[in-house]
Amino acid sequence: MSVLIKNGRIITADADYIADIFIENESIVAIGKNLSNTADTIIDAAGKLVIPGGIDPHVHLDMPFMGTYSSDNYETGTRAALYGGTTMVIDFILQKQGSSLQSAFDEWSGRANGNAVGDYSFHMAVTDFNENTKKEIKTMIEKEGITSFKTFMAYKGALMIDDRQMIGLMEEVKKHGGLINVHATNGDMIDYLVQKHREEGKLSPLYHYLSQPEITEAEASERFLDMASYTECPGYIVHLTCEGALHAVRNATKRNQHIFVETCIQYLLLDASLYEKDFEGAKWVMSPPLREKKDQATLWAGINQGLVQIVATDHCPFMWEQKLMGKDDFSKIPNGHPAVENRMELLFSEGVMKNKITLNKYVEITSTNVAKIFGMFPKKGTIAIGSDADIVIIDPNEQHTLSAKTHHMNVDYSGYEGWEITGKVKTVLLRGKVAIDNNQCLIKKGYGQFVKRNKVSQNI
Ligand code: URP
Ligand code: ZN
Ligand code: ZN
Repeated sequence: MSVLIKNGRIITADADYIADIFIENESIVAIGKNLSNTADTIIDAAGKLVIPGGIDPHVHLDMPFMGTYSSDNYETGTRAALYGGTTMVIDFILQKQGSSLQSAFDEWSGRANGNAVGDYSFHMAVTDFNENTKKEIKTMIEKEGITSFKTFMAYKGALMIDDRQMIGLMEEVKKHGGLINVHATNGDMIDYLVQKHREEGKLSPLYHYLSQPEITEAEASERFLDMASYTECPGYIVHLTCEGALHAVRNATKRNQHIFVETCIQYLLLDASLYEKDFEGAKWVMSPPLREKKDQATLWAGINQGLVQIVATDHCPFMWEQKLMGKDDFSKIPNGHPAVENRMELLFSEGVMKNKITLNKYVEITSTNVAKIFGMFPKKGTIAIGSDADIVIIDPNEQHTLSAKTHHMNVDYSGYEGWEITGKVKTVLLRGKVAIDNNQCLIKKGYGQFVKRNKVSQNI
């Protein structure tokens, strides 16, 4: 099977040129002007942008959480991702407290294998670090190719680990060449504020926001950075939202600490005024919550300063009926919002087209840096000879409107309903197969493969 993409404007993290790409089976085999290879399929990309497939390193598919399950499974979630130009996702396995990492890995693999349409990998969330878990870290990294370990400093009583466990885990992960991801907010302080607001009868979604003030994130980020510095363990802060937390990162760099930071598309584009819409604010109940306009400015600046290396989604969708579980009490609203299908187009429209980031930066923060940080580069994350042919073709001028009526995520509302955006994903190739074309998905569930990852490199 071969594909020839003609005359596209190829954008990578560090190049921008017009050429043809020749693909055989799953990989790119030639790039050049006027390639004359005979191909089974020829795609005319003149006037279009040709970029590496987006990789979203932060999604929650089919995840048991807050008394329910996130509403996209591996089939619907990875297919929706492909429609939006994301060819690979990294999902989170949650260890059950009292059980092994291996049993959690087997459970998650069982849900994903044979169902995924797009490629995927897992981070392992360690919720119970003990002598048994400690022995499994090496196996996860060396046998299963899971090199990143998620920790929660919040969700007290469910997922949170204490600092003692954090330090022990960091030492073990460092020893075997892995990375610690962290949800960095102060779980005890949030727990206190949630109870206080409930006792005062303050039960609307607005109090979700007011129970997680910026200081809860700034404090935990700084504490995490101190522990990572002490143990010399590579660290990655997920869904960083605010000025206070980014200042903690900036300070850490002053002692030459190398730290990776992810923000999410919603924190760049939406703000906390949405929580003033009574219960409709539940659509954006997520943790950490949306912040203020000054935080958006900080995050855009952080991207261009190289302090924030990745824009993900934290895609964790729930149907409106599931959100209604918290109709009378914000603390029961399942946390999370849908965006895996929207990230690439939103960031293109609001970031590139509005001159907040360059095209090269766009590719870097949606694909290349993800592949580099999480041990998949150059197989994934670039357009180069030998790389997987994961390729997205974008019409930079086409305008369209986001809506739950037309999206493919399994969720009955959109956090971006009615947003008019510029730039549309037209064609997507996954490992050499045309996966999306003309608003149709041409591949079936089961095509998506688990990607084993390499040990982590600090050199990006
Ligand atoms: O609200 C969120 N973020 N839900 C998913 C779990 C998490 O904290 O990432
Ligand atoms: Zn989180
Ligand atoms: Zn998350």
